[in-house]
Amino acid sequence: MFTILTGSQFGDEGKGKIVDLMAKDFDIVVRFQGGDNAGHTVVVGDDVYKLHLIPSGVLLDSRVLIGPGTVLNPEVLANEIDMLAKSGTTVSPEKMGIDAKTTIIMPYHMELDALRESARTEKIGTTKRGIGFAYIDKVARDEVTMADIADKDKLLNRLSELAPQKESAIKELGGDPSIVMDRELVDKYIKLGERLGPYITDVSYEVNKAIEDGKNVLAEGAQGAHLDVIHGTQKFVTSSSTISGSACANLGVGPTKVDEVIGIVKAYITRVGEGPLPTELNDDAGRQIQEVGREFGTTTGRARRCGWFDLPLVKKSVYLNGYTTIALTKLDVLSNLDPIRICTGYEFNGNVVDYPPEMTYDLAQCIPVYEDMPGWDDDLTEVSKFEDLPLAAQDYVNRLEEMMGVSIGYVSVGPGRAQTFRK
Ligand code: GDP
Ligand code: IMO
Ligand code: MG
Repeated sequence: MFTILTGSQFGDEGKGKIVDLMAKDFDIVVRFQGGDNAGHTVVVGDDVYKLHLIPSGVLLDSRVLIGPGTVLNPEVLANEIDMLAKSGTTVSPEKMGIDAKTTIIMPYHMELDALRESARTEKIGTTKRGIGFAYIDKVARDEVTMADIADKDKLLNRLSELAPQKESAIKELGGDPSIVMDRELVDKYIKLGERLGPYITDVSYEVNKAIEDGKNVLAEGAQGAHLDVIHGTQKFVTSSSTISGSACANLGVGPTKVDEVIGIVKAYITRVGEGPLPTELNDDAGRQIQEVGREFGTTTGRARRCGWFDLPLVKKSVYLNGYTTIALTKLDVLSNLDPIRICTGYEFNGNVVDYPPEMTYDLAQCIPVYEDMPGWDDDLTEVSKFEDLPLAAQDYVNRLEEMMGVSIGYVSVGPGRAQTFRK
């Protein structure tokens, strides 16, 4: 069985939590795009794990894989392995595999990301992890791969071939080009390559073989549909395709093999970085959601912008991903707000539309049209059955389900594993 799970909004919907919860039913959990711009939080009792690269199934028995469509910062990965080891989880090559073709994020990618971002008059607000520049090199066929860093001679050859180009790109943006061949940095990558080399595997083969053998594979998306490099709110997007079809393309699994596509939908909406967010709240309700939902970036610590549930954006996401089931997260955060507003459409160019206009500058002009629902005062974090939710919360969930047109399979009312139930 092959299941794909993706974020339906602008990231941080709670993918990590739901993957961890589901991982017990999966033999393999695999990341297929993005890099350490992702920050997936898994909470187990008092322990909080912030995972940037290692799939969120790592705490259970699943084998975890990093696919060739990702961009990998080897230092971040090594730190993550060490962090998990300290808390008792050994991430050995039996536990985790990295595809040989995975693109490596080099120090010059991070430098170029930071320089480019500071040179922009209109910022994107990237995570400065070098994601975009690593993907540029993949597509330009100027990448350094996992296989390259695992072999010192290959790495040195590749770097000397690429260095003039990278040095001049950094110089052009006003940076220090010596970073490209800096002896200490190169040595660091050689050591990281030696350390991570034993993890190399053919992810596409492993995933297809597992599916053929009747095992269960879960593809864990990073970011969210509206950060997709093709279908998102360009230019305020990430540099990979974040939607479900990307899992097939990036893992080399045929679309005929997909059994389920799970969408993670936050009960409201958040966004980190720049770009339109039609329902954004700059009032007490917005501040309450931010505070109660602890809406601060897992990767950069930046405050997340918060807004009411935006149905047109989620509808588009349902189209882009073909969801079969939805996990609705962070319902508990909406307690003590009255009314609770659902954006059902936008006023745009004198009309009311129920689907986002395609161009980002048009979306930025959209004024939300709201349907108000009564709120509830109860704390939901101890609720363990749908029927035990206050009626107003049940109505809110049922209304969202009706409007999204996809059944809500899971409702999450807190960061912990137990704070989730089937609808
Ligand atoms: P991801 O990037 O999609 O994995 O999401 P993040 O981990 O970046 O952000 C989600 C945050 O919300 C994390 O701190 C989670 O622990 C937390 N979280 C997940 N589900 C719930 C929930 O239902 N209620 C509350 N209050 N917090 C949640
Ligand atoms: P997870 O997987 C939320 C945003 C950045 C920025 C834009 C481009 O935790 O949901 P990048 O560094 O990718 O070039 O930045 O994308 N962004 C995310 N926002 N959650 C994420 O990941 C994100 N990954 C990137 O804030 O606006
Ligand atoms: Mg996150």
